[in-house]
Amino acid sequence: MERERADLTGAPATMLATLYGRALHSRSADPLLHDPYAEEAVRRIDHDFSKTGVRGNDPLSIALRGSLFDRLAADRIAAHPEVTVLHLGCGLDSRGLRLDLPPSVEWYDVDFPEVIDLRRKLYEQPERHHTIASSVTDPALLDSIPGDRRVLVVAEGLTMYLDPQEGLALLRRITERFPAGELICDVQGELAVRFANVLNSPVRAANAKLRWAIGSGAELVNAVPGLALDEELTFFEVPGLERLPASYRALVRAMGHIPALRRMALILRMHFDG
Ligand SMILES: C[S@@+](CC[C@H](N)C(=O)[O-])C[C@H]1O[C@@H](n2cnc3c(N)ncnc32)[C@H](O)[C@@H]1O
Repeated sequence: MERERADLTGAPATMLATLYGRALHSRSADPLLHDPYAEEAVRRIDHDFSKTGVRGNDPLSIALRGSLFDRLAADRIAAHPEVTVLHLGCGLDSRGLRLDLPPSVEWYDVDFPEVIDLRRKLYEQPERHHTIASSVTDPALLDSIPGDRRVLVVAEGLTMYLDPQEGLALLRRITERFPAGELICDVQGELAVRFANVLNSPVRAANAKLRWAIGSGAELVNAVPGLALDEELTFFEVPGLERLPASYRALVRAMGHIPALRRMALILRMHFDG
């Protein structure tokens, strides 16, 4: 089998951890998120995945988040099938391949060139699936994407790596370019960003830096004209949490009573109309 090298560092390297987490979870008995693409990619990448910082309950946590994103994305696509999907900071996530997409969907996977290069070597690219090798904050990014249809932006594990001003500018460009749309993203609060080196071993292992702390959906809605908040979920409300071991659940429940900890990680669903 031909193996591909992954000489990544910083934010691009963090996607090796989420990929590995999904692969480990997918191989487990009765997985919540079945991801044969991740399993195969891990086999084909020449990399010591034990050094990604993934440990303990991480594979299940990664799968819980991924499966929620899958469900939210599938639900919004079912509501508006004539849609352009921007899968920003896609890493090696196979979401566009594992969801059963209607043929009316145009799907764009966007990430840094070194990640997209690897992605193109590992994954098939069916019709209406596109990859763009670019920083998501490049002001020219949207020029290559037709702006005449609704958009669904899916950004899992991305916002915290962006410069706050550049991240807001990206959101404003999106709401200006498309006639209407929805956004699904996760964000991390001040504590999670400030103490990432202690709290987040994949971030430490990748030598990445978290830069954008967002403590509520209101922060984004107030800064981006036209954006409205539909749903704000804390990690403590993610479906499937009961699969975590009882001791971990007890810790999670205890953290859920402390407001600053409760809001350390949020999943947001927002929309805008033209
Ligand atoms: C934690 S990984 C998540 C990857 C994928 N969404 C997943 O869940 O497996 C973060 C991803 O964001 C990407 N990323 C961070 N900053 C970016 C930027 N400015 N432009 C494009 N991609 C970026 C990284 O390259 C990496 O693939």
